[in-house]
This record gives sequence, C-alpha cells and structure tokens, in this order.
Amino acid sequence: MAENIAAQSAVSSRGLGLSTKMPAFFHVLEDQWDPTSNPQGIVNIGLAENALMQEEMKGFLNSHLNVESHALTYGDGFSGSKRLRESLCHFLNRHFQPHVPLSPSHMVATAGASNALECCAWALCDPGDYILIGRPYWTTFRTLLGNRASVNVLDVNFDGVDPFSSDAVELYRETYMQAIKKGKKITAILLCSPNNPLGRCYSPEILCSYMRLCGELDIHLVSDELYALSVWENPTMEDPDQFKSILSFPSESLMNPQKLHVIWGMSKDFGATGLRIGCLISQFNTRFLNACESISLFSFPSSLADNAVAKLLADDSFTDHFISLNRARLSENYRHVTTTLSDHGIPYTQSNAALFVWVNLGAMTKGHGATDADILEILNREKVYVTSGLTYASEQPGWFRIVIAHPKHVLDEGLKRIFGAMLYYETRITK
Ligand SMILES: Cc1ncc(COP(=O)(O)O)c(C=O)c1O
Repeated sequence: MAENIAAQSAVSSRGLGLSTKMPAFFHVLEDQWDPTSNPQGIVNIGLAENALMQEEMKGFLNSHLNVESHALTYGDGFSGSKRLRESLCHFLNRHFQPHVPLSPSHMVATAGASNALECCAWALCDPGDYILIGRPYWTTFRTLLGNRASVNVLDVNFDGVDPFSSDAVELYRETYMQAIKKGKKITAILLCSPNNPLGRCYSPEILCSYMRLCGELDIHLVSDELYALSVWENPTMEDPDQFKSILSFPSESLMNPQKLHVIWGMSKDFGATGLRIGCLISQFNTRFLNACESISLFSFPSSLADNAVAKLLADDSFTDHFISLNRARLSENYRHVTTTLSDHGIPYTQSNAALFVWVNLGAMTKGHGATDADILEILNREKVYVTSGLTYASEQPGWFRIVIAHPKHVLDEGLKRIFGAMLYYETRITK
C-alpha cells in the first residue's frame, strides 16, 4: 500500500514517511513579528533560542573571522579541527570541572547537539532499542533518535512525583523492569541536565543516583548538558540546585565509565543555534567515538564555524564576560516575565536554568476542559507562538513553555497576545 502511494508520489516509501515529519515551526520562521517591518507577524517566544547576547556574539565573530587555507580543506578530519577540540577541552575543563580532565581524544565535534544525540542512537543502540526519558521532555529527542537510526523513546511517567527527586529515579527503574518483562531492550537513560522544558538542575545526589542506576542495570547514561551555563539567579527560589556536570563525578565508583556520555554545544549558552557546533564527550570509550567518526562525513561542522568557535572558547576574558552577562540578562527577564504573569494571575513553576518558564495556561480556562489543542488554537489566532505540553509529553494538560531569552519588547508583545488569547477564551465560554 505504502509502496503504491510512494510510486505515485515520486518518492520512496521511506521518503514518503519522512515527508510527513517536517518540523512544526517552519511557518513561524517565515512570518516572524517585527514592530516595524512585520507588525502582523507571529511573535515567536516558543522556539528555544537565546536572542539576548546577539550583539556581543556578532561583535566577536565579525572581528575574529579570518579565513586560512586550512579552512578550505577537509581540515583535520570530519570531527572538528584539532584546534577546536583543544579549545572545547580548555573551556569545558574550566566550566564543567571534569573529574578526569578532558583531552581532544575524549570527544568528537558535531554539527550541533542534535547531531551528537543522533550519534548516540547510531552507535550505542541497535534499531528497535529503547532509551528512557522522564516526562515532560523535549520530544524532538524522538525525532533525533528515531527518524533515521530507528531508536525509540520510552517515556517514564512520574504521576505527580517531583521529576528531580530520588522517587523519580526509582520510577526509571520500575519502567525499565516492566519494559524488559515485555521483551523491550533498553539501552540508555537520557537525562536533560539542566532540564528542557522545566528549567531546573538536578542535585549532585540525584545525578549520582542516576549513575548508580545505570551501573546496576548496565546501561548507558547520556547527559545532555546543552544549557549548562545558562543558570541564573532566582531570588524567589529557595536554595535552587546549580548546574553540575555529570563529568565532575568519579564515575568508576558508580557505573561503567565507558557508558557515560555528555553532550554540549554553542546553541544555547552562546545563543548561536546557527553556528552548528556541538560536541559529544565519551572519556573512556574509544570504540564509540570511532563509530561516530565513521559517520561524521555525513554532517560535520563547517570549517568557518569551527575556526571562529575555536578562537572564542580559548578567549577566557570574552567567555567569562559573556556568560555572566547572559546570566544577568536571563535573571532579569525571568523576573520581568514572572512578575507580569503573576499580575495576570497565571500560575507557573519556578525555574533558574535554561531559557524557560513553564506556565499553566490551562488554569486560566477555569475548569471548562479546554485541551492543549484548544488553547493552541486561540494562541495561533492571536499570532503568538509558544509550545504546549504536547510537545513535551507532559503528563498534565494545560502547561506551556515560554522562552524568556528575548528582548523585553518581544516578550511584552508575546505576553500581551497570550493574555488577549486567554481573555478571548473567557468571553467565548461565558457567552
Ligand atoms: C535539550 C536539547 N538538546 C539538543 C538540542 C538541539 O540543539 P542544536 O541546535 O545544538 O542541535 C536542543 C534544542 O532545542 C535541546 O533543547
């Protein structure tokens, strides 16, 4: 049947399947709001991008991009230049404080964190395997692991348990046990630390519990630390956990160190999703990194980005200043957004990391049973783009993720439209 349709549509049945899996936000990129050039456009406070530091980043890149002949070649191979990997090590040794200092042989540079995640699917799993992820989570993980490498995500349900607690770790164990009874093969736990969408960090004790669990079950632990340095001060949160890299623990006492892997990149902490520079770190598993290298020709970072980032990450005074300014701006924006939400009686959960506030718009529909899809419809009508809990496999309906890393005029316009949408809903149901 699929073959017949495929023949008619001039693509293979595989192509046909892929053609239905287009990212859902491209229409937003085509019609982005701008107060002067496109006032009728869509206000985008949904896509996880950090627009707060663009001037500083442009300043650095425009003054440091100097193309050398090396950049016009295959360079040092397909996994990042030697210089880039040295700079990544220098930078991450300062900020992640790994228990065993990083060296270039411990990593491959990738075209963004997405590529690093897909490498995990290709080289740690077989087709049909499962990776455990706790809800809510960024469901693009499913796309990255599944679309080409055919690896599945198995949701871990928390049923009201705090996702950052030790009870949550136990729920991973239970999910694992139930799955293997059904004949599923679980290869790894994927932890998003700091967490997207909840915007919180895991405590050192909980990180150790995850490592211990992976040790007991003899599975991999992949820690996606893409938001590691975007942790800000939130004075209203009591003693919030700070970021701690999983690399900073003596892993050998907790799990098989060959099965511990970390992902980081420039996309979020440096507000540069377009540079497409990420890295996959695996300090004790050369075979895994070799497998990743073997497929690196398919997507490796451009030499221009490689070159610029190598310079940037080696420049301590620039990166120190950039990170602290980014944190201060995120903190201020968090304060601004949450104060405005509170003024309008919209509940949210506290956060101190990544770029997000997790907001309960469902609470504004006053028990009228509005689904996430209903709320999304009225938000679309007001031309404001935020992502709903559906995008994060949320267990509770009504939750939406707002990205706070935008200039205030963008946030204010987006919030105004959200409030307008909720008001519209209220007047519609009370008619
Ligand atoms: C947790 C997480 N991992 C990976 C990615 C992909 O990042 P990149 O743009 O570096 O591929 C994202 C992007 O939103 C993310 O939120």
